Amino acid sequence: MIYKEEKKLAYGKRVRNILYGGDYNPEQWPEEVWKEDMEMMKKAHVNMVTLNVFSWAALQPSEDVYDFSKLDKIMNYVRANDLKVCLATSTGAHPAWMAHRHPDILRTEFNGMKRKFGGRHNSCPNSSTYRYYAEKLATKLAKRYKDYDNIVAWHISNEFGGECYCENCQRAFREWLKKKYKTLDAVNKSFNTAFWGHTFYDWDEIVLPNLLSEHFEYDRTMFQGITLDYHRFNSDSILECYNLEANAIRKITPDIPITTNLMGFYKQLDYQKWAKDMDFISWDNYPDLNDKPSPAYIAMNHDLMRGLKEQNSFVLMEQTPSVTNWSPYNKLKRPGEMRRLSYQAAAHGADAIQFFQIRRTVGACEKFHGAFIDHAARDDTRVFRELKQLGAELESLGDVFLEGRTPSKVAMVVDWDNWWAIENSAGPSIHMKYLDALRDYYSAAFEQNVPVDIISVDDPIDKYKVVIAPLLYMTKGTYDEKIRNYVENGGTFITTYFSGIVDEHDLVILGGYPGRLRDILGIWVEENDALPEGETNSFEYKGKTYEAKMLCDLMHLEGAGEISSYKEDFYANTPVITRNCFGKGKAYYVGTRSEDGFYEAFLKDVFDEAGVESVLDTPEGVEASVRRNAKGEVLFLLNHTKEEKEVTLNEPYLDLLNRDKIRKGESIKLENNGVRLLFHGVCS
Ligand code: GLA
Ligand code: ZN
Repeated sequence: MIYKEEKKLAYGKRVRNILYGGDYNPEQWPEEVWKEDMEMMKKAHVNMVTLNVFSWAALQPSEDVYDFSKLDKIMNYVRANDLKVCLATSTGAHPAWMAHRHPDILRTEFNGMKRKFGGRHNSCPNSSTYRYYAEKLATKLAKRYKDYDNIVAWHISNEFGGECYCENCQRAFREWLKKKYKTLDAVNKSFNTAFWGHTFYDWDEIVLPNLLSEHFEYDRTMFQGITLDYHRFNSDSILECYNLEANAIRKITPDIPITTNLMGFYKQLDYQKWAKDMDFISWDNYPDLNDKPSPAYIAMNHDLMRGLKEQNSFVLMEQTPSVTNWSPYNKLKRPGEMRRLSYQAAAHGADAIQFFQIRRTVGACEKFHGAFIDHAARDDTRVFRELKQLGAELESLGDVFLEGRTPSKVAMVVDWDNWWAIENSAGPSIHMKYLDALRDYYSAAFEQNVPVDIISVDDPIDKYKVVIAPLLYMTKGTYDEKIRNYVENGGTFITTYFSGIVDEHDLVILGGYPGRLRDILGIWVEENDALPEGETNSFEYKGKTYEAKMLCDLMHLEGAGEISSYKEDFYANTPVITRNCFGKGKAYYVGTRSEDGFYEAFLKDVFDEAGVESVLDTPEGVEASVRRNAKGEVLFLLNHTKEEKEVTLNEPYLDLLNRDKIRKGESIKLENNGVRLLFHGVCS
């Protein structure tokens, strides 16, 4: 299920059903309330809780004093009530006394400002105080609760992230560089410090790249190489903190899997690297409801999380039942929306559906954040009724889609180094955003119900019919060879404008763009025209005219065939989309950013040609996704629109929620926010 590694017990190995529950913070409440909490949780079919997320100050009231009495009570109470536990280590917010006595634990901001006590997720990852006490607390927790067999996982800290620019981090950065480069010569070469005479002659001359040094804005640096390495270093430093706790716990409870809650496309941490040290992936899904989050973008985040580990599934650790508190306007999830988003997570690999949080807090910034139990503490509210319904449904589903895998024939490559490098690039355009490029292609596949695996540059690609690497600005190491072999052997590869430009040090690959991809793509890009917002060029594809915007690559054919050319400006009639037949396969280059209609039309053709099939033809706004396990296949139909939609099925199915049998060719109606889970057995 969630885990494949030997010895590791999964949520699923210990639990043969979908876990349903969320963050539960009874230590923040008087004990009289706990009984009501439990009654409400039972009504809502909650079967698990995440405990102890923010209790460091309570567990360690001072330097040498630890007090587990309240947590003992909570652990016993929860176990007596048959709830599973995901046990957090509480190190996501350090105690005030620790900050007061050991200021090295406090972070320094990008602008050089040293923080005082306050907030959370606030410890310097290279503070020896933080590391010492975090590891110690994790060890104590593991020793104390190791025999609670209802613990299904450890949850290290909470939403690791952010950055620190303090003196400790600076010293650690120099050590990190020494380990990576061995010599200062190699550092100078990698950062190209000959430019502007920034050559380092002593390791101590190296300072962190921030507003006090090489940056003039967060994303704008005068030396990309050092900033890129700082991102890598910061992600590694925080990962070391995760590992300190995880390794301490693993020694004591080797069979309980360990995770931490990730945040989807979170730029500061290289999750593909993190995933190697995590036993399973869990993440927090908080789409900004004001921003009309596209179902495709949410799905893309799920698929990123799903693809982080070979096990191909994850735990949805948090989502709000109804509303957040941190947006400028905190719009309610509409009736049915929470349910639909929960099933969308399941459709993309979630084996557990959890929330933040069980009871709405009485004070501080999250008092207006949604929860299972709100301030009125009634069981007849709209939100509670919806939670109760979902809980009952998930309970009735048992393990039907657990361990289900997504049968993708298309992969999209995502790489954090590439992301950092692109967005630090001085030129050609500040509007060149990695997520935009990823969204363009992912959404076009999503709209056609074509499942996509999101993979790293280290993952194998041979099993895919189509591999899309949008904006592959950085070609690391021998990645070009992997692509070359893949295409030679019959694969279809797509990349875009401004790809193949630099190596892993963000140094340009000389001899013409797109560098090492040039022979595969059969083109040479001579110039890149960055168009200001509002300015466009255009091109025609299959008789329709589409915008060319943001960046237009000016290129020459070197063996590739032209699919379309620019219509305007001095480079009118030169190629914009090309296809190179290379070995047994094909490599496409889309030399500009365009609009949704183009991406859909283009990918449809590429998919048809490569033999990639859609899960099902559905009306606009209705998603069809599939998970397959040994028992069969569950087809998730999700109506992301406000209107009723009709879907025609091309196989016989059993409707898992109302037990209706559906015939092949039958049409079913999906109401606003409607969801259907349709089962198609292996032998049916
Ligand atoms: C994050 C945190 C939770 C809570 C929610 C609120 O995901 O992990 O502790 O603050 O945000 O949306
Ligand atoms: Zn620091």
